[in-house]
Amino acid sequence: MQSEAEVFSLLKGRRPGYSLPQAFYGDSNVFQADLKHIWYKEWVFAVPAAELPKSGNYVTLQIGAYSIIVVRGSDGAIRAFHNSCRHRGSRICASAKGSSPKLVCPYHQWTYELDGKLLWAREMGPDFNPDDHGLKTVHCVNVSGMVFICLARVAPSTSELEKQAARYLGPHDLGNLKVAHQSTITEQANWKLVLENNRECYHCSGSHPSLCRTFPDDPNLVGGDDSTTSNAGRDHVERCERAGLPSKYTIDPTEQWRFVRIPFLGDAVSYTMDGKAAVSKRVGSIPFDNAGSCLFFHYPNTWNHFLSDQVLTFRVLPVGPMETQVTTTWLVHKDAEEGVDYDIKRLTEVWINTNDEDRQIVEENQIGINSPAYEPGPYSPAQESGVIQFIDWYAQALEKSLIGGFKVAAE
Ligand code: FES
Ligand SMILES: [Fe+2]
Repeated sequence: MQSEAEVFSLLKGRRPGYSLPQAFYGDSNVFQADLKHIWYKEWVFAVPAAELPKSGNYVTLQIGAYSIIVVRGSDGAIRAFHNSCRHRGSRICASAKGSSPKLVCPYHQWTYELDGKLLWAREMGPDFNPDDHGLKTVHCVNVSGMVFICLARVAPSTSELEKQAARYLGPHDLGNLKVAHQSTITEQANWKLVLENNRECYHCSGSHPSLCRTFPDDPNLVGGDDSTTSNAGRDHVERCERAGLPSKYTIDPTEQWRFVRIPFLGDAVSYTMDGKAAVSKRVGSIPFDNAGSCLFFHYPNTWNHFLSDQVLTFRVLPVGPMETQVTTTWLVHKDAEEGVDYDIKRLTEVWINTNDEDRQIVEENQIGINSPAYEPGPYSPAQESGVIQFIDWYAQALEKSLIGGFKVAAE
């Protein structure tokens, strides 16, 4: 068990370029530090806006101790609230998703507008002011159709992220797509192992027969560096940029997020077993089928693939020190008809397989790390630059926030 001071010294003692000391992957106090200093502070991807197409549509999510409702209001805006009634605190919405014209607490039926205002509370006396008892808001921003929330008192700026997202993701018109399928799986592994695994393709050829039919495992394309270090990557970027599709590798100065558009293998245009499109209607204003995949990650909890025929979003949420939830959403053109323009099995099989293969990998990684014999091992600089980059971001974000906390405590 580690106090925050111990977490800090363990962090300072880590060997850069190596996997983290064991406690970072399972100790409950490190997990609490992750929640407090990363998950309660950073922007967290909640939901594609297209999952809430109508007024009253909501989803709930649990981030550590916080239960949050994300709901579309009657004015069309998406907002986030703490899912805790202002009467005596009951959770208001228990289901993972639903639709309701008002938010009604099941305990004593206090009733809230979709914008959080308290509308009705029975027999609270003459001095009771409903305006003082609206739902508490959570920061919420719609980034080109991806809804992020932030639990911090003061949220970090999203202006550069929004600007770049509009360029890279805008042409896919995510807000106007529809959810074709969604899957949520639970992985028995620390959330950082799930992210680490995503940030490299060193494991792909050995584990992902379906994905490797179309997805290049070239670290120059999918690693931590600019994709134009590969010839295929450079040609693809140039062709797409000429067609007006922003594609060049762009990374935030803190390396928390990145956009890049990479090619598929050969003539492939989508994540299907034969490489052909899964959906006959192209999304947004993408000029050709062969646009590859625009990869967008944002730490701590999302990576995404923006294709010509579909968009795939991934949301990672920490459940416990060694338990993580991964939700994958497949989005297609709003007017695409299932059975006519696409087939669900064909659309989803590659990533359903891939997700399950990744689940097994990270669960085995966790079991091995739990052994007293575990010691941090070296990442491959050529193959795992993306993992090094993620771990460096994590270490820096955690360190900065821990130091901030120590300073406040000393004042
Ligand atoms: S706790 Fe919600 S109405 Fe009483
Ligand atoms: Fe994988």
